[in-house]
Amino acid sequence: MDRVLIFDTTLRDGEQSPGFSMNAKEKLEMAKQLAALKVDIIEAGFPISSPGDLEGVRQIAREVRGPVVAALARANRADIDAAWAGVREAARPRIHTFIATSEIHMKHKLRLTPNEVLEAAGEAVAYARQFCADVEFSAEDATRSDPEFLFRVLEVAIAAGATTVNVPDTVGYTTPEEFTALIRAIHSRVPNIAQAAISVHCHNDLGLAVANSLAGVAAGARQIEATINGIGERAGNASLEEVVMAAHTRRNIYAFETGIDTTQIYAASRLLGTITGVRVQPNKAIVGANAFAHEAGIHQDGVLKNPLTYEIMKPETIGLPENQLVLGKHSGRHAFRARLNALGYDLPKEALDQAFVRFKELADRKKTIGDSDLEALVGEEITKSQEFYRLEAMQVTCGFPATPKASVTLRGPDGQTQHAESAGDGPVDAAYQAIGQIVGKANQLTDFSIHAVTPGRDALGRVTVRVQNGGCEATGHGADTDIIVASAKAYVNALNKLMAASG
Ligand code: KIV
Ligand code: ZN
Repeated sequence: MDRVLIFDTTLRDGEQSPGFSMNAKEKLEMAKQLAALKVDIIEAGFPISSPGDLEGVRQIAREVRGPVVAALARANRADIDAAWAGVREAARPRIHTFIATSEIHMKHKLRLTPNEVLEAAGEAVAYARQFCADVEFSAEDATRSDPEFLFRVLEVAIAAGATTVNVPDTVGYTTPEEFTALIRAIHSRVPNIAQAAISVHCHNDLGLAVANSLAGVAAGARQIEATINGIGERAGNASLEEVVMAAHTRRNIYAFETGIDTTQIYAASRLLGTITGVRVQPNKAIVGANAFAHEAGIHQDGVLKNPLTYEIMKPETIGLPENQLVLGKHSGRHAFRARLNALGYDLPKEALDQAFVRFKELADRKKTIGDSDLEALVGEEITKSQEFYRLEAMQVTCGFPATPKASVTLRGPDGQTQHAESAGDGPVDAAYQAIGQIVGKANQLTDFSIHAVTPGRDALGRVTVRVQNGGCEATGHGADTDIIVASAKAYVNALNKLMAASG
């Protein structure tokens, strides 16, 4: 069996898409889970894009062992310097440099001639090789490029020292048949191709990213670039769990293996949802809530008689916890920690202590505490940033007809409590205005979402907000059985992250 490398770009292509931004701490948490999943390469970020991203890449390079740690750079020296500054402390660093090769990108975006692109590609790879023995080159928009020109660019990149050449379907335009032919042609037409591995990087605009990636491998590619839950620019990238489980389940068709520990898939998917606040749709292949649920009577009857009737994969293969163990107010610390471990969370002592305190508080208000409740509590710990402000107390009045009013007390950076009151369009608006008066920074709420973590009237409400200040954006999360309190916590969490990002 051939071994295909899994290059995870959740923290770069995924993270750069709207609603998925993560700070350095969150990226590090996710990178540790990617290492547990045993991906071969973690693309940790695009360091030139911001000091925060550089710091995130640096921390992952320093602390995460196992996978190669890669950073992205355009084909210029400043980008490559920043990428190297990000990954240089990794045990196995990689610089990933790219330039567009399609006529439409070269002419309208780069305003470069094909010869200039050829030269820039060769120079960038050679420059990156001065720092790092592992250099990947990507021909952006490869699938809409003139194939003859693409072959030439890849040849030049390999001659300059590229050890992997990536063929991105940047706009999700290709089809499995067309992509197979392109990868085969690269094999036969790029004279020095034996000196580099071919990688595929497919976007999902037509819903073909996974099929195209598998077609690319069947045609000879030996690296697949993918993301957890398929997140990424626009319609996303090829979903890592789908590619891996297709290969795992249909070994007779896809004659390759990966190094992925499939039992870590579910935990990786849930952790990403916990950190970003964006859950996958229920019918998402492999990791959706319904992926292993059987509703129709005929199906249930079949599965009870023999799971093979309707299940092509075993839930335990992806690490789906076998039973929904329910905790309550009599559950102790040991049971709490054991359940978190079973869900794939291994919190450091301080975070575990905090989460346990919150668990006990919640258990007083809510009779049974299931996995989703635990994830919401843990999520608050994982996404906590430096706490400049903390919600100490709040009260709201609202009704119909009435003017909603909120009174909020925060503990500030100097340890003193500060209090403000405000009216608003609704109780959340009133609370946010009062918080704004205390924090005193102009900012814009660009997204607000709330969902009940479990069914039932005593459910935890989990609020996710996005807040912008100048060019900076932060995502905040808060969970509480009182949704106005959860909203206030999420807002304060986002403001703390903005303050931490601005130094
Ligand atoms: O989609 C794309 O072309 C990319 C490259 C930077 C690899 O993400
Ligand atoms: Zn991409």
